[in-house]
Amino acid sequence: MPTTIKVKKGLIEEERAEAIVVARYEDDAKLEGSIAHLNRATRGRLRTHIGSGEFQGKLNQVSILHMNGEIQAKRIVLVGLGKKPAARLDSIRQAMGTVSKTMRSLEITSCTLAIPDRGIAGTTLEATSQAMTEGCLLGLYQFLHYQPSRAKETKPVRAITLVTRDEKTLTMVRAGAQRGHIVAEAANSVRDLCNHPSNVLTPSALAAEAKTIAKARGIQCTILDRAKARKLGMGAYLGVAQGSYEPPQFIVLEYSGAPKKTRPIVLVGKAVTFDTGGISIKPADKMERMKADMTGGAIVLQTIRAIANLKLPINVVGIVPATENMPGGQATKPGDILTSLSGKTIEVLNTDAEGRLILADGLAYAMRYKPAAVIDIATLTGAVFVALGSHAIGVLGNNDALIDRVKRVGEAIGERAWQLPLWDEYKEQIKSDVADVQNTGGRGGGTITAAAFLSHFVDDGYPWVHLDIAGTDWGESARPYIPKGPTGIGARLVIELLLDLVSTPS
Ligand code: BES
Ligand code: MN
Ligand code: ZN
Repeated sequence: MPTTIKVKKGLIEEERAEAIVVARYEDDAKLEGSIAHLNRATRGRLRTHIGSGEFQGKLNQVSILHMNGEIQAKRIVLVGLGKKPAARLDSIRQAMGTVSKTMRSLEITSCTLAIPDRGIAGTTLEATSQAMTEGCLLGLYQFLHYQPSRAKETKPVRAITLVTRDEKTLTMVRAGAQRGHIVAEAANSVRDLCNHPSNVLTPSALAAEAKTIAKARGIQCTILDRAKARKLGMGAYLGVAQGSYEPPQFIVLEYSGAPKKTRPIVLVGKAVTFDTGGISIKPADKMERMKADMTGGAIVLQTIRAIANLKLPINVVGIVPATENMPGGQATKPGDILTSLSGKTIEVLNTDAEGRLILADGLAYAMRYKPAAVIDIATLTGAVFVALGSHAIGVLGNNDALIDRVKRVGEAIGERAWQLPLWDEYKEQIKSDVADVQNTGGRGGGTITAAAFLSHFVDDGYPWVHLDIAGTDWGESARPYIPKGPTGIGARLVIELLLDLVSTPS
């Protein structure tokens, strides 16, 4: 049951609700805004409660006061934002994620959020409302598809209402809530696709998902099967697919929000629905996580859906080469040489470096659109986790302005990216003795040599960024609005990057 989000103008102290949620900074000296109004209406109960020292307003701290008829609402729920100078937009996203999960665990099925008088951390009220909506919806995410009895037991939060006092802010709050809803839904759908096991979420299932998305207005969907991909000459992609019985599907979505002649932004997402490593097989420990090796592809599909829902006035193409990577009797073997769609030959030294092979043909296919920009996103290298851990996406590319934009947008929305260098010297590591290029680059700089490999398939002059999400796509433990397991990280970044490109074109 999805949670509905409502927005209304009203006086928070007069709302009838199961719970009224108000956020407060740790270092607020006075009672201000909604807290002051609620304090007056409850004849000083908030002053007493806060004065007791029980609730300091530390980030993600939650404190609940039960009402006794002082106001229409049954409870006031305080949530902390931490110290004001340290607050970021992400603080309110986290606080809302925490508080909405608390509501669910207490079986409180609806709540009303007080919109603050001013945006948090110098942001607009629109951005703040968006982050609040995202925090709730992302925080409430659960994957119970294969646990129907557990799903029946949990009482979902059915409705969240955002209340703002001021008529003038209503349009901003509404716009923010709507955008937050679309963006959070996209990220949650990515999580769903990643959670589904590989026996269910096959390349064909992913293609069916793409077709469903395309039914929305303005989206064209083309699926190339093994035979069509062979005819086109996608030897790198098919080299990965040939060890698998499960049919590969090369998915293309075209969203047209601008006149036909406008050059599109092309998104390319890795969708290996299960990565065994192939003949260079992976160790058994934690191999099950490789069901999420299609995160990049899922992000591309859900981004297309989100920008169609947002009706963005741009053209965007989504390219998703989908396949398993299996060690079948026909599988590619180390030393095999593949001829890619671009015509370049690739010596496969390690069949577990399969992501770059399917992206090679995805990127070459992208060139047919003469793109305004190319963004690829992939769970590409374990090395990005070694370099950056799980708190930053690795970003590399051929265009500093675009890379800087990714970093700026990522910082603003709470999905940070960090640049690694892509100097020509790294290309030396992937020179082959027998082919144009080889698919691994030795011990040092694994994330960089992977990107250097990809750069072979991007024609000069097209702005390109590569996002390596192999360190961020899976969480070891739950965070305020990010669950354990598939995180969906990268979806909000790509969507917001497109929004940013629309609002300030390069
Ligand atoms: N899908 C993996 C990368 C990965 C590792 C994603 C851990 C998520 C978590 C990728 O296909 C892979 O196997 N990469 C190899 C490349 C190596 C053989 C050059 C790696 O990183 O070990
Ligand atoms: Mn692999
Ligand atoms: Zn992989």
